[in-house]
Amino acid sequence: MSEERFKNVISHAKEYGFVFQSSEIYDGLAAVYDYGQTGVMLKKNIREYWWQSMVQLHENIVGIDAAIFMHPKTWKASGHVDGFNDPMIDNKDSKKRYRADVLIEEYIEKYVQKIEKEVAKGIKRFGDDFDEEQFRKTNPNVLRSQNKIDEVNDRMKTALEAGDLDGLKQLILDLEIACPISGSKNWTDVRQFNLMYSTQMSATDGESQIYLRPETAQGIFVNYLNVQKTGRMKLPFGIAQTGKAFRNEIIARQFIMRMKEFEQMEMQFFVQPGTEKDWFAYWKDQRIKWHQSLGVAPENYRFHDHVKLAHYANAAVDIEYNFPFGFKEVEGIHSRTDFDLKQHQEFSGKKLQYFDPERNESYVPYVVETSIGLDRMFLVLLTDALKEEDLGEGQTRTVLQLPPALAPYQCAILPLVKKDGLPEMADTIFKKLRLKYNCFYEEKDSIGKRYRRQDAIGTPVCITVDHESLENNDVTLRFRDSMEQRRVKIDEISAILEKEVSMSHLLEKLLD
Ligand code: GAP
Repeated sequence: MSEERFKNVISHAKEYGFVFQSSEIYDGLAAVYDYGQTGVMLKKNIREYWWQSMVQLHENIVGIDAAIFMHPKTWKASGHVDGFNDPMIDNKDSKKRYRADVLIEEYIEKYVQKIEKEVAKGIKRFGDDFDEEQFRKTNPNVLRSQNKIDEVNDRMKTALEAGDLDGLKQLILDLEIACPISGSKNWTDVRQFNLMYSTQMSATDGESQIYLRPETAQGIFVNYLNVQKTGRMKLPFGIAQTGKAFRNEIIARQFIMRMKEFEQMEMQFFVQPGTEKDWFAYWKDQRIKWHQSLGVAPENYRFHDHVKLAHYANAAVDIEYNFPFGFKEVEGIHSRTDFDLKQHQEFSGKKLQYFDPERNESYVPYVVETSIGLDRMFLVLLTDALKEEDLGEGQTRTVLQLPPALAPYQCAILPLVKKDGLPEMADTIFKKLRLKYNCFYEEKDSIGKRYRRQDAIGTPVCITVDHESLENNDVTLRFRDSMEQRRVKIDEISAILEKEVSMSHLLEKLLD
């Protein structure tokens, strides 16, 4: 069922111009995607809402746009050159490469599915009398599977945390995991592969090998002092940035969930040492509010606290969304101490301190980071919004219930017929409204078909011009979610749209 739902999301994304596979006419490029004519607008609107909520609503947060290329020492200092690795294993027969931990997780998933099947059987057998909690605690088949899951998880975690690559391979051998392509258990050793892409810059620059940034955050850290000094910023203050990041993800799966080229929206908040835990709590609260302002059912979001923290962090939490394939990370909030700035101080030899007039001393600020993947957020909204509605009498409709302000088009202007002066009148309305909103204009097909097409791309309001419009100077507004139709005067349209689709209504929810 979930798999079916996710397939629907992917095919809807393609059919209505949201997402295409990159270079599709050449059979595509694994884990790389292009955004089409509707997708680019939804993506732009999410980015804009994030930007306004960060930069416009906080007087102490400013934005930057750093280059994708950075001095290679940046990535030595940040730890990415030495530590940004995935443990990979090759099957000698198929010559296919896999992430060792993903192979093991897929093995675990089979046992999770076994448990779910047992539970489903129980529900079928006992109906309303079925006590699921009790069943999960006592059924011998469920318990056997759960023990297996716990045992494998423990061994995997221990090996990953100790960087024990031989231990990971042994686990794959012990579990008798076979390559899904060749079916053989003929594995190489597990090796670490760095996730950064590198390319060459002309040797005359002295630095030939450079990297494509794997996160936008480092562009903020290296500009910390530039912004602080030129913007006369006082702690606490933040720097926000959106932009592309690149990671050599070997495992291409789950659509735009894990891509080689993706976009991040990151904000580093610089604070006095000792206050970082309070700011961490503040940003955790702010960010979940942002997610919830978009109308996603609250039970589909959860926090996932990191139990084992990275060596530079003193608190970390993920915001996870309940995708059709389970709860997965959409955003991370990390208290990163003074690690990054101190590293850049050391590697660059330049002081990156702040003079605190209140304390009358200089120090390296601490940092609380919020980091969200724009593409993953896009997938959250698309997945959550796509509904197949039963209209009764055997009729259904596909509707994309996106937050109106983020929809690709805020309204569609539709002359009922393509004659009698209706297109001309509709065109006048269109030309006026498009000064403020992204509007769609369409004359072809029956009005019913046109409404359905707008439902499928999430347009919140349709404006229909008919023969009466010529006489009464009014139109029919048709609302996406309720399908309600209302007759209004032409000079009322603007105010109604403002109420229905303005981004400021989303922003207001953040102030509660
Ligand atoms: N500066 C911190 C940082 O980069 P991260 O957890 O590695 O942290 C932050 O990435 C966010 O970027 C993730 O929560 C996710 O939404 C997104 N992200 C990471 N890798 C991605 C990928 N390969 N494809 C799409 N989004 C990705």
